Parts: sequence; C-alpha cells; structure tokens
Amino acid sequence: MRIGIVGGGQLGRMLALAAHPLGIRCTVLDPRANCCASDVAGLVQSEFDDVAAIERLASESDVVTFEFENVHLDALHTLKDSTLLPPLDALAAAQDRLTEKRLFRSLGIATPEFAAIDSIDALKDAIEPIGIPAVLKTRRMGYDGKGQFVIRDHAQIADAWSSLGGVPLILEGFVPFQRELSIIAARSRDGRIVVYPLTQTTHIDGILAESITPAAGVSDAMISEAHRAVSAVADTLNYVGVLALELFDCGDRLLANEFAPRVHNSGHWSIDGAACSQFENHIRAITGLPLGNTACLRPTAMLNCIGGVPPLEELAAIPNLRVHLYRKNPRPGRKVGHVTLSADSHEALERAIHPVRECIKQSAQH
Ligand SMILES: Nc1ncnc2c1ncn2[C@@H]1O[C@H](COP(=O)(O)OP(=O)(O)O)[C@@H](O)[C@H]1O
Ligand SMILES: [Mg+2]
Repeated sequence: MRIGIVGGGQLGRMLALAAHPLGIRCTVLDPRANCCASDVAGLVQSEFDDVAAIERLASESDVVTFEFENVHLDALHTLKDSTLLPPLDALAAAQDRLTEKRLFRSLGIATPEFAAIDSIDALKDAIEPIGIPAVLKTRRMGYDGKGQFVIRDHAQIADAWSSLGGVPLILEGFVPFQRELSIIAARSRDGRIVVYPLTQTTHIDGILAESITPAAGVSDAMISEAHRAVSAVADTLNYVGVLALELFDCGDRLLANEFAPRVHNSGHWSIDGAACSQFENHIRAITGLPLGNTACLRPTAMLNCIGGVPPLEELAAIPNLRVHLYRKNPRPGRKVGHVTLSADSHEALERAIHPVRECIKQSAQH
C-alpha cells in the first residue's frame, strides 16, 4: 500500500511517520526539495497546481490525500473520486469560510453571526446588525489568523477594507467566548465514525499556542452537541479521513468556527496521549483499515514551538516531555515543532507545564 500526500510540511511528515509501522510508504508532493516531510517520505517535487505531477503522484500511490486545505482544486479534479480522500467536495467546502458557515447552518450547527462582504458599502451595512467588535476575514486562503482584521471601532472600517478588500470577504461577529475547543473525528470508508475527546485550545495572535486534552469541565450535553456537529459534517460530505471542528465555548452553548478537512494541530497530543493517533487514524481511514481507539490515555498538554526551536538539551532534560521537532527553519510565527506532556491529573499537568512553557517562551517569536 502506498499513499500520496499533497504537501510536505509537518502534517505530511507526521502522517508518513504514522504510516511507517503499518508498513505503508508515503510520497509527498511539494515544491521544496528540502521540505520537512521528505526526511521520511518519497518526494515528487513540483508546484501544487501541476496536473502532470499530481498524476505522477497518483500513479505511484493507491490513494492520494492532502495535508493542507489551500490545495488547488483544479489540479485535483484530474483524480478519480476513489483515489482522492477526503473527497474534493469536503475540501471545497472548507476552502471558503462562507460556504463552510452556510453548511454548518444547514446542518443545524450554531455559528457566529456572519455576512458576505464584497464592497465597502456591504461592509458598512453589515456592521450595524452584526455589531462591534466584528472580525473581517478573507473567505479563502486564511490560516494561523492571517487574512483577518478585528474591527473594534467604526473608525476602523476603512482601514479594514483597505487592508483586506479586493477579494471576497466575510464579516463575523466577534464572539466573547469563554474558551476555544476542538473536536477531532475520523470517518472510515464504510461510514463509521470515531471521535477523540474534546481538546481545549489557546490561540495567541490567531495561532494555536497550547492545547489540553481532555478539556476539563465540559458537560455531557456539550460533548454530545460537539459529537453531533462533527458527525453531521462528516456524514453530509461523505467524508473519509480525519477532520477537525473548531468551536467557541460560550458557556451556555457552542458555536462552530471552522472545520479543517485534515489532521489538525489540536490533535497533535494524540501521538503521545491517545491509544491511536489522529495521524494513524487518517492513514487507517483512507486505506480502508478499521479505525483505531481514540481514547485519551492520560491528560495531555501540547505546546507549539513557534518562531524558534528551544535547545534540545533543555527540552530533553524535562521529565516525561515528548519532543517533536519538524526540521524547519525558524521564522517569526512559524510552527517549527511541538512538545507534549502527560500527567495523572489536570492539576498535576498544570503544575508540570510551567517549566515547559518557560523553556519554550525563551525561543518563541510570534
Ligand atoms: N468570530 C470570532 N470571534 C472571536 N475570535 C475569533 C473569531 N474568529 C476567529 N477568532 C480567533 O482567531 C483564531 C483564528 O481564526 P480562524 O477563523 O480559526 O482562522 P484560521 O484559519 O486562521 O485558523 C481563532 O482560533 C480565534 O481565536
Ligand atoms: Mg482556526
């Protein structure tokens, strides 16, 4: 069995690493000869929109998947439905924040208030019903908080429009959430769904900084609401593979922010903290294997290394810390690795996390 992965970043790298013990080989397609997944996978070096290269990847693979959602759809049209998993429709739905939010609403999943924005007049009109603060976002290509402008004052409307205008936009109400949560599911070829425990996520400047799994203090009602939401999205898209749904916990209700049609940073804890990781479950799902156990073995924290790699000697000296470095050159705001820490209780985890946070902070650049 061979898998082709469009994209050779850290998600491709961790997918390939999960495939190895199953005896499955991966080839990644990426324009960068030195992409970090190429350490552990074969490489087709090409631009993402090169149809001939995508066809070559497919000819060397039994199934093709992708590790980031801003893949060029046109280039993937060349692949047969059974070859590309998750399916193209799922990718298309996730690429456009407006389509995505309309999909959520059609499934009865609550979202922040939103409006499509194509002109400064539309923006001025939408501000009134949506209210301030509001977030103006590009509908496409955003990630790690890029392509967003938080409007806190009417005087900022022109600035927001001039910094993002020119491409289709969406305006969202700014949600005064208590915290952010994420739920990750895997759906098999025969429609079975397994779900990981809810993860609590903390973002700094729009980038995931830390996560804790299982999220503490979530009611059974919220857990079933999150399960229902992620399962509805997966079923309606006839999804195969791992997907993540990002949620705002508003205390009395959950609002869906966005979904990612791929393995997700909020699921990295699962390599060390779950019986079967999100990466292995993605490999299992797309290759038609039975899905693995999503149980969280112990409360597990994940901390991203952003913009700088902490000295390995220091990380390695911290008891029970698991280190995952991606061999990427540090740049401000760039994810270059993550670490995980597990403990017997959330309280013990909270105590143990402090020195790790300090160590990571020294080298972080946001
Ligand atoms: N409507 C909103 N209200 C409050 N915070 C928001 C809203 N939209 C985004 N954010 C904050 O910005 C982060 C990144 O935005 P998101 O829409 O998830 O885009 P990305 O694709 O960059 O992850 C979110 O995790 C959240 O912290
Ligand atoms: Mg997000």
